[in-house]
Amino acid sequence: MVERRRTVRGLTEAVARRWPERWPLQPLPREDWARQRPTVGQADVAVIDAAVKHALARPSGNWFVVADSRHVRPDRPYGVTVAGRELVAWRDADGRVVVGSGVCPHLGAPLAEGRVVDHRLVCRWHGLAVPASGLPGWGWCPLPSHDDGVLVWARLDDVDGEPPTPRPVVPDRPDLDTALAAVTRVDGVCEPVDVVANRLDPWHGSWFHPYSFARLRVLEAPAVDTTNGQDRFVVAVTFRVGPRFGVPVVAEFTCPEPRTVCMRIVSGEGEGSVVETHATPLGAGPDGRHRSAVIEAVVATSPRTGFLLARRVAPAVRPVVRAAARRLWRDDLAYAERRYALRRRD
Ligand code: FES
Ligand SMILES: [Fe+2]
Repeated sequence: MVERRRTVRGLTEAVARRWPERWPLQPLPREDWARQRPTVGQADVAVIDAAVKHALARPSGNWFVVADSRHVRPDRPYGVTVAGRELVAWRDADGRVVVGSGVCPHLGAPLAEGRVVDHRLVCRWHGLAVPASGLPGWGWCPLPSHDDGVLVWARLDDVDGEPPTPRPVVPDRPDLDTALAAVTRVDGVCEPVDVVANRLDPWHGSWFHPYSFARLRVLEAPAVDTTNGQDRFVVAVTFRVGPRFGVPVVAEFTCPEPRTVCMRIVSGEGEGSVVETHATPLGAGPDGRHRSAVIEAVVATSPRTGFLLARRVAPAVRPVVRAAARRLWRDDLAYAERRYALRRRD
């Protein structure tokens, strides 16, 4: 039995040695989780804190990601709460997004429970019809909003109080006509800064998510006192595809604005693909603690035939992408929530 196991192992190792390096899928050596190289020595708290500080210092223009573009429709309202403000969104006759207060200006009914009829949002309680242009006489005016093709943003000037900008800072993305986009949302008990801080600690990858990442090395980290905006992390990592195979890539992490962390694959399979993590404050829960939404957009691209096929069956592929993102975020939210809970204890 022992002899047979040795033979199998020898064969596996021989195959791994001869495996062509240019193939995207590479064999992974069997590795004991506890025996991988600890990253605690490199995961410098001062570097992570400085990267978070730099992210927070970037201008937001008061824009917040509020929804997956595909959830805002012309035939029904979509309700969302951002920083304690109840909002409602739908699309007008030209397909443009309309976002405004979700509280009916008559007696306060939730407009998200209304119906869109002839492109006007009709309140369920007494039938007030709100057109896309708003009802200034009732004090209901649409908020500045932006649909970037993947996500819908709203500008809430009274929340951030920064100089407003006409458009949000949307990360550079692959051409949406040839990419596959999927959006996932998970909510947690924390503030947006905790979500950003989790993403700006790349060293936890293969320790905390051994089911997804292997052989993670941080190749570049920003200096603590960087002032030139070059605060990016560059990470070499292998995305696991099963226990013994993975896809090695090099990825960079940057913060284009204070609530967004963008991971871009800079070399390897899917080069140019991005994973945008947007943290949106929801407001306080009944227990007084903050709630935040993590709205993550995967915009993937690849010249491979298999990918073109995957694009064609995007409705079937999106749930798979979302399931993978949710699994990671189950752990990452635990990290963010833990960070928040410890801060509240101080
Ligand atoms: S509460 Fe909306 S119409 Fe009366
Ligand atoms: Fe993580």
